[in-house]
Amino acid sequence: MVDTPSNLPVAEAAAILRRGGLVAFPTETVYGLGADATNGEAVAAVFAVKGRPRFNPLIVHVGSLHEAEGLVEFSAPARALAERFWPGPLTLVLPRRADCALSLLVSAGLDTVALRMPSHPLALRLIAETGRPIAAPSANRSGRVSPTTAAHVREELGGDVDLVLDGGPTPLGIESTVIGFEGGKPVLLRPGAVPREALPPLAMPSSTAIASPGQLESHYAPRAALRLDARETRPGEAMLGFGPGRADLNLSPRGDLREVAANLFAMLRALDASGAAAIAVAPIPDAGLGEAINDRLRRAAAPRTP
Ligand code: TXA
Ligand code: MG
Repeated sequence: MVDTPSNLPVAEAAAILRRGGLVAFPTETVYGLGADATNGEAVAAVFAVKGRPRFNPLIVHVGSLHEAEGLVEFSAPARALAERFWPGPLTLVLPRRADCALSLLVSAGLDTVALRMPSHPLALRLIAETGRPIAAPSANRSGRVSPTTAAHVREELGGDVDLVLDGGPTPLGIESTVIGFEGGKPVLLRPGAVPREALPPLAMPSSTAIASPGQLESHYAPRAALRLDARETRPGEAMLGFGPGRADLNLSPRGDLREVAANLFAMLRALDASGAAAIAVAPIPDAGLGEAINDRLRRAAAPRTP
């Protein structure tokens, strides 16, 4: 590879990861807080910096389906999904192989691992240069709004990260769709950037034992209170609009859900920073990406778990 200046931060980031440090990096969804997924101490540092409960497992990022097959057992339906959607914002939860090289901490005590191959070129270069799978949850403090710019990461995690790779705003803006398997059938563990309509029929998970922020009602939360399906503001509220109409910020004046996903977390942060006591959010349709968007909004609006 030609050593252009733009390669240098990636090489430095890979060196930091290989010696057990933490690097925040862009994916096509949100910024991740990365660590060498085979290094238990590095993974433990991710939990510590995020303040993440130890029962909540991390996503591991790989550079190819082949690499993933060395870590987990693929069923035929799982392989078909990976072949169709990787690289991209689909995470598959699969059983660890007996010889799986990943730290047990990434699984948080489960016998499964969540894996995805991101499509963002900086993420792929980082994985390739590191030569190891990278464990990376979203690069925010646990329970708070996910970061979609390098500045969000610096503001929130600052000195706790060894390096932030800046790839500009993340193109999709909402986290990956997480799929698990029950009795060989795919189940939706978290709606995300791949909409349900693009996937084979998905059941809801029967088990409530799966550790997922999905179970932590309050998540993705700004400091300000959120009021959903709002048609107008009340005193002290800032308006987060959708479609035509008066708003302090508008998720998508033309009513495009992709634009909403890309703007959602940055606009929640901006209205939070404006000092509004509460944020009124216009109704968002539930189809397509709307399912994941409304999932994040409901969790952001849920009563806070201290
Ligand atoms: O788009 C994304 O998925 C971003 C980027 C950085 O890749 N990552 C992300 O990670 O959102 P995180 O840690 O914030 O969310 C991971 C989700 C959680 O809902 C977690 O509970 C679930 O995946 N998860 C991870 N491993 C699991 C497992 N073994 N079984 C069930 N759920 C799992
Ligand atoms: Mg997260």
